[in-house]
Amino acid sequence: AHDAADMLGAIYKLPEQMELALDLMKRTAVSLDRSRVKTILITGLGGSAVGGDLLRTYVGDTCPVPILVNRGYTMPSYVGDDTWVIAISYSGNTEETLSAYEEAKARGAQLTAITSGGELAERARRDGVPLVSVPSGLQPRAAVGHLFVPLLSLVQKSGLVAERVEEMEETLQLLRDMRDELAPTAQTAHNLAKQIALRLHGKIPLIHSSTGLTEAIAYRWKTQINENAQTLAFAHSYPELNHNEIVGFDVPSELIERVEVIALSSTFDHPRVQKRISITMSEVLADARCGRSQLAARGESALAQMFSLLLIGDYASAYLAVLYGLDPTPVVKIEQLKKRLA
Ligand code: F6R
Repeated sequence: AHDAADMLGAIYKLPEQMELALDLMKRTAVSLDRSRVKTILITGLGGSAVGGDLLRTYVGDTCPVPILVNRGYTMPSYVGDDTWVIAISYSGNTEETLSAYEEAKARGAQLTAITSGGELAERARRDGVPLVSVPSGLQPRAAVGHLFVPLLSLVQKSGLVAERVEEMEETLQLLRDMRDELAPTAQTAHNLAKQIALRLHGKIPLIHSSTGLTEAIAYRWKTQINENAQTLAFAHSYPELNHNEIVGFDVPSELIERVEVIALSSTFDHPRVQKRISITMSEVLADARCGRSQLAARGESALAQMFSLLLIGDYASAYLAVLYGLDPTPVVKIEQLKKRLA
């Protein structure tokens, strides 16, 4: 487990990371012509894009303009001078994000960059684009606090959405309470994340969510299992999965026995979705020979509920790596691919 220490340590420090980011943002001004903003578009990939997903989930309902996330080289056709494009890349060297940044600039979009350095920081400085510089030295996916909090703070400072200080406080407190229960020192009998890792060991995880609050979190679980535990995992959401995926559970038993379903749920889920989750898990899948369990978010506010599930998933994916005898930190395949593409 020694090799796992880095990733597990970074997960443990999530509340401190968020506090540091809040502090950084207190000293950061936002210069933006808010009246011109018709769309907010966050552009990034992988562990950096997840911050955008979390933001969209958390404030999408109250923001008067759409918040969208773009994961690619180009900008959608609507992007122009009424779009606020936030380019986010932890390393600052992701080619898709740099390409999207250039296209946004060429279209006259209002730009902001969030990065720990690299080419994106250089270009932002060169172009006079507002730059949020976050601390370096982590894996991007382990820097979720450094990436999400500045995004949230930027849209709050722009005046487009209200600041919800109490919800942030509740979230930080909940994460501090939960992490000792989930940390490596907590025995399996009392450690939900270790129990989940045991359930997922040797299985293909299917992470289910609602289209509302938990969707970005289920996708985070999928990608964390991919990158930390270096195994396949898939995510899908209600109600859509009721219209296709449930039919797929009729696969032959040697396949279905390899599947472990975890359904994430939240009190913010639509009441009909809550009913769908419960009926699907207990009745529709009653005879399916896959493992299955439901995991309810903790906390009161939407932010606390999102992050409670995120923390459990981050820990569970790192413990799954340990069960497979792997170091959860390096992502050798991603690095090799980047070299091949160079
Ligand atoms: C690695 C990770 C990756 C990266 C992605 C983009 O920990 O999370 O998904 O986030 O390769 O790189 P950045 O985030 O540096 O733009």
